Amino acid sequence: MGPIDLFTPIHLGPYTLANRMVMAPLTRNRAGAGNVPHGLNALYYAQRATAGLIVSEATQVSPQGVGYPHTPGIHGAEQVAGWQDVTGAVHHAGGRIFLQLWHVGRISHPSLQPGGALPVAPSAIRPAGEAITYQGMLPFVTPRALETGELPGIVDDYRRAAVHALAAGFDGVEVHAANGYLLDQFLRDGSNRRTDAYGGSLANRARLLMEVVDAVTGVWGPERVGVRISPVNPFNDMHDSDPQGLFEFVAGALSALGIAYLHGVEGAIGGVARQTVDLGRIRAAFGGLYMANGGYDKARAGRALASGAADLVSFGVPFLANPDLVARFRADAPLNTPDAATFYGGGAEGYTDYPTLEQARAAG
Ligand code: PHB
Repeated sequence: MGPIDLFTPIHLGPYTLANRMVMAPLTRNRAGAGNVPHGLNALYYAQRATAGLIVSEATQVSPQGVGYPHTPGIHGAEQVAGWQDVTGAVHHAGGRIFLQLWHVGRISHPSLQPGGALPVAPSAIRPAGEAITYQGMLPFVTPRALETGELPGIVDDYRRAAVHALAAGFDGVEVHAANGYLLDQFLRDGSNRRTDAYGGSLANRARLLMEVVDAVTGVWGPERVGVRISPVNPFNDMHDSDPQGLFEFVAGALSALGIAYLHGVEGAIGGVARQTVDLGRIRAAFGGLYMANGGYDKARAGRALASGAADLVSFGVPFLANPDLVARFRADAPLNTPDAATFYGGGAEGYTDYPTLEQARAAG
């Protein structure tokens, strides 16, 4: 047997994944009315089912968790039915798919909130930048700080969403604690200035995430739950005074819960990371499977796996533009060029019409 590479199978919880290539969660803003997934979404995911694992686009656990137009939810019966079509199509194609559980916190806008309410956050700190709404880009507002007594309700929203994900036929769930959304807002001290049991010390700032993961593993078992973090990603106006200490603490606490994997967004989304961390130490504190993410290509992913720096690698844009990315990497074949103009929103164009290698060859 040669060294571990992208095509080496791996055990993840109860599953044996055919390869170590994961389709990363990608917001595509193509859910139907009522934030309900539909047939086109099922086709898109099924086209990509040769990934060892698909992690779905970020999906709202509650109406309050919505932050962008046309993003899917998992809080209503119609949404569960829509996702059943997606998971059925992926399974029919031989794939496996986890659902990513999402609450955007302050990265929302009253126009996206039930009753036009203020978005909620750990603290009333307005992020720099603009919200993406049905009316176009609008300045972020100052969010409302959640009361301590509301936090059990947030945990319940995640628990209910996890139950719905089970009913929708997913193979597992990933808790989104990255990229400046609600759970990350609690973790990092640039957005969390609370003075209750959910702010201040590392244990306090990690408390909501741990309660959420505990609730979700109560539904799924820890072996079918992953967690995504982004220690140095400044996206959504995020900052922490000590990302190394914070995320080593978080990794250690998650290790104790025995979850299936830790998913690391290693760099910055849409910008430059101003901070650095030693990922090896964070990974060591976790001890379980580590899924690396952030601009990897075949060669760099191969090196990360061969050296043991990662156990799996997730690919975003490459999977978006290449439904058969696994076959293309195997064959060292050229990749389709991604069209950034169709990343967010629209229909089939730039979504389900990227050709496979075979289709491209047949078309000459
Ligand atoms: C986005 O919609 O831009 C987005 C959503 C979820 C992420 C990152 C970016 O984790």
